[in-house]
Amino acid sequence: MSILESIVNQNQLPARYKAMNEQDIHQRIRDIKKELGSSLFIPGHHYQKEEVIQHCDATGDSLQLAQVSSRQTEASYIVFCGVHFMAETADMLTSTSQTVLLPDMRAGCSMADMADVNQTEIAWNHLQDLFGDTIIPLTYVNSTAAIKAFVGRHGGATVTSSNAHTILKWAFTQKKRVLFLPDQHLGRNTGYDLGIPLEAMAIWNQHENRLEYEGRAEECRMILWKGHCSVHENFTVANIDFIRKTYPEMKVLVHPECSHEVVERSDLNGSTKYIIDCIQQAEPGAQWAIGTEMNLVQRLIDRHPEQKIVSLNPYMCPCLTMNRIDSKHLLWNLESILEGKPRNIITVEEQTAREGRLAIERMLVRS
Ligand code: 13P
Ligand code: SF4
Repeated sequence: MSILESIVNQNQLPARYKAMNEQDIHQRIRDIKKELGSSLFIPGHHYQKEEVIQHCDATGDSLQLAQVSSRQTEASYIVFCGVHFMAETADMLTSTSQTVLLPDMRAGCSMADMADVNQTEIAWNHLQDLFGDTIIPLTYVNSTAAIKAFVGRHGGATVTSSNAHTILKWAFTQKKRVLFLPDQHLGRNTGYDLGIPLEAMAIWNQHENRLEYEGRAEECRMILWKGHCSVHENFTVANIDFIRKTYPEMKVLVHPECSHEVVERSDLNGSTKYIIDCIQQAEPGAQWAIGTEMNLVQRLIDRHPEQKIVSLNPYMCPCLTMNRIDSKHLLWNLESILEGKPRNIITVEEQTAREGRLAIERMLVRS
């Protein structure tokens, strides 16, 4: 067997889990949770499927889960139901005696993968030559630990979609310009809200090591990394036009990872928590077309039958990497803890963790 085959085999769900029925899986998860008691903590992102969410001890958006992880002192095992960068953040915020696990190692994030730290070092050198020491880096938490460490050692901070305005405002008190990684849309939408004109925003093209910018260098205020979320990019202006024509009473509510054109034409935009709050506070009969991840939209539809809620894009599917985590992988992971051989441990190397923590803590104290 080749090394590749043995790695693939090791990560393949054993047949016994495939053969189990749903009820038995859920019962077994509940039994293990009881047995492990307070030594186990399961946080889950709002984009997780219902079959997973029902077993989570805390649910939240990226900011809430980072905050909850930083307060987790009791649990020896944190089984993170989210994607890889979230588990890394949890590892950086917990003590070395605590173990963070990810039920399926294939649960990555395509946006986080769009910024590699070597590309970022190259970009930084180019930008220093162009603009001198006038730039502070910010990174969306949807980024690797290595990127967070880069940002931490250059005096910057992480942001999430729910505190991006606050942290961007703070960044401009530190330096004249911001390098915003890796989501160009969150960067552009947030900068625009703070009054930065689109003409003062450049794009760093990491594939060609080139600044895409037509204005005068001294007027450039933001340098946006050329990354995006492959889920939120699927909401289009044509989707909004369709809703306006078909359901004139409907409010369009989108996440700021959507393109600027979509955000500008929406009625409301905000983080995952903001979207949930809007629906929870709305009157019966309210009508919404929501532009965000489909598991969350489906949950809002199921929990709020008193409102009319649709996905802004009717052909939208859930975030595929988030969806790698299911009840079977969760059970496999929990059993590995019981057997004393925990699987899929997420460990961030010490220096990376120390520098990454600087960036995360600069965000947490301002959130
Ligand atoms: P928030 O949880 O910050 O809204 O981020 C959304 C997201 O894409 C998570 O991967
Ligand atoms: Fe990454 Fe987008 Fe999926 Fe969030 S929704 S995990 S940003 S690909």
